[in-house]
Amino acid sequence: MRSISSSVHAFLIIVALLESTDTTSVELPGSSDLESKARSLLDDLSKQSSEKCTESVFASWAYYTNITDENKEKMLELNLEFSKWEKGAWKQVMEWKDRWPQLKNDTLKREFKLLSILGTSALDEADLEKFNHINVDMTSIYSKAKICDFKDKTKCDLKLEPEIKKLLTKSRNVDELNYVWTEWRDQTGKKMRELYKQFVKLSNKAAKLNGFDNMGDMWIMPYESDTFRQDVDDLWTQLKPLYRQIHAYVRRKLREVYSKDVISKRGPIPANLMGNMWAQSWSEVSDLMVPYPKKSFPDIDAELKAQGYTTLQMFELSDEYFKSLNLTEMPEPFWKHSMIERPDDRDVVCHASAWDFCNGVDFRIKQCTSLTMKDLITVHHEMGHIQYYLQYKHLPAVFRAGANPGFHEAVGDTLALSVSTPKHLHKIGLLKELHKDKEVDINYLMKMALDKIVFLPFSVLMDRWRWDVFSGKNHEDNWNCAWWKLRYELQGIKPPHQARTENDFDPGAKYHIPANVPYVRYFISFVLQFQFHKALCGLADQYDPQDPSKPLHQCDIYQSTTAGNAFADLLKLGSSKHWSVALKALTGEDKIDASAIKEYFKPLEEWLIEDNTKHGEFIGWEKDGDYCIGEKTDDDPSPSGGQSLLFSSWYILVLIFTLCFQSLVR
Ligand SMILES: *[C@@H]1O[C@H](CO)[C@@H](O)[C@H](O)[C@H]1NC(C)=O
Ligand SMILES: *[C@@H]1O[C@H](CO)[C@@H](O)[C@H](O)[C@H]1NC(C)=O
Ligand SMILES: *[C@@H]1O[C@H](CO)[C@@H](O)[C@H](O)[C@H]1NC(C)=O
Ligand SMILES: [Zn+2]
Repeated sequence: MRSISSSVHAFLIIVALLESTDTTSVELPGSSDLESKARSLLDDLSKQSSEKCTESVFASWAYYTNITDENKEKMLELNLEFSKWEKGAWKQVMEWKDRWPQLKNDTLKREFKLLSILGTSALDEADLEKFNHINVDMTSIYSKAKICDFKDKTKCDLKLEPEIKKLLTKSRNVDELNYVWTEWRDQTGKKMRELYKQFVKLSNKAAKLNGFDNMGDMWIMPYESDTFRQDVDDLWTQLKPLYRQIHAYVRRKLREVYSKDVISKRGPIPANLMGNMWAQSWSEVSDLMVPYPKKSFPDIDAELKAQGYTTLQMFELSDEYFKSLNLTEMPEPFWKHSMIERPDDRDVVCHASAWDFCNGVDFRIKQCTSLTMKDLITVHHEMGHIQYYLQYKHLPAVFRAGANPGFHEAVGDTLALSVSTPKHLHKIGLLKELHKDKEVDINYLMKMALDKIVFLPFSVLMDRWRWDVFSGKNHEDNWNCAWWKLRYELQGIKPPHQARTENDFDPGAKYHIPANVPYVRYFISFVLQFQFHKALCGLADQYDPQDPSKPLHQCDIYQSTTAGNAFADLLKLGSSKHWSVALKALTGEDKIDASAIKEYFKPLEEWLIEDNTKHGEFIGWEKDGDYCIGEKTDDDPSPSGGQSLLFSSWYILVLIFTLCFQSLVR
């Protein structure tokens, strides 16, 4: 591939020389000549971009797996170089502005279309570096954050992973949970509020110079839809009734554990009791919510430990599953260079991620893996990203991306829907006995829902908040209260212990805010993965809507090459076609649609309605206090424009970087 492309390049130079000397030549065969010129330019840009990208990603990897000032400087330097190159490349693309619409070949046209979005004006290097540093500094504050122990305040080295995460899952001491929850926010978000202000200004300036009204609009560009925000709202509206049923059920169960002062009958639920720092998933405390305790779901974490599993074996298990579907196995360099455990001799960015080094050879995962079922699922999630990278590595650089960002997030999760079934866990020896009855089913579906359904409102609000920040609808004096308004309205949760203020910056306590990763992709993924699952299960002959013995939630596509080959066909397209084309080829549907996820959870939804009715539970939540002080009563729509700052294309680089080369766990 590479040698072909450089010989084409050499050929082009010769042709160009000939043309420039032979001014009297007769008309060239117009369109095919245009096509071949276009193809040469695009091939050349793809090759150069891959090489620049490789250098830059290697430097980023060095920093992310070893946070030192030296590595940071090196990374910033190479990223700056990459963005300079991108600027030049964009200029070359824009020279084709009037010609590329005439091309006959749709693939070439699409390449131009996607590349032309990288448009920038003159680049001020000092400002570029400034913005660059803001991003790195915010991520660094987050990644280095440590808090003190609740009981022993001299012990101040508790990290999010693993100590704090573990504590949130295990502790039932409300005072301790309040302390840890608040302290984490003091050590992260609160420290970056000023940086975030500068970041927003620069982002918007960048978006404007790209022809977008603000950065929120630019973020949704990869979804290639004029109705995207409305579509997200519509999907959420369809799933909200099920969420409210789960919410009511969980609130009742928590009342049995904690006192009535902590949890009211009709109010929102305190955010720190769900075993997760952001209450984005509640499955970490699913042991408190088991519908049929006598049929309790066995503890897979204990089983993993009892069987002496290693973190490496968790990755091998996942690789084996992909291979059983005739998908691509992880290449040798993956095993050699991935970081699958937290090293104890240095600071690293622990947040799990999957890396594409843009050279068709190096693909790596960085994860501080622990021996838990939850992390086994995360391993599959990250492996799904790598699988996508492997499947589309032959494409031009600009197409090496998910059909849309939600697709990228959905790959590994789709497989994990099969892997986590009791049927499959039994097959691989992690579940000793397999009982089949309605009660076991409901227990299983509850556990899944505490993750898959509970996550939905959180994944909507993360970007709804940022969309409104970028558009100026959320004024910077009101950022934290706007955040809590959404947390209350969408999730039905409230701050624990006492009201938050505008001295806090709670959005910043979640990785994707400082790391500047758009989030609605996870919402799309959570709906889409059930659509994928349903189609693949049909192909694997493990699901039949007419046959009650083959419900969607029991399907395991293990070893189905028919399903795997069909999935590979979708992945191979990368972003070379509009996502609706890729979706239609696999599922027959060209819209992202909630019916598959609803069908999956149907038995649980019916059970919940009955159970909540039986207990006379209030469905929904009512305000029972102040959750954030400093709320402005009047709408102040004045946008926070950063007119004084020059545009920097770094932002776009970051956007592309996170879209294409580094995919993160939610
Ligand atoms: C971490 O980076 C420093 C350079 O800042 C280097 O000297 C050191 O060897 C690196 N450590 C590891 C384990 O790679
Ligand atoms: C369009 O161009 C691409 C990339 O060069 C090529 O692979 C494809 O075959 C072309 N399609 C047609 C219909 O010529
Ligand atoms: C597995 O995939 C390859 C392409 O990657 C294909 O050629 C082969 O036929 C597939 N095998 C089966 C059993 O489907
Ligand atoms: Zn991911």
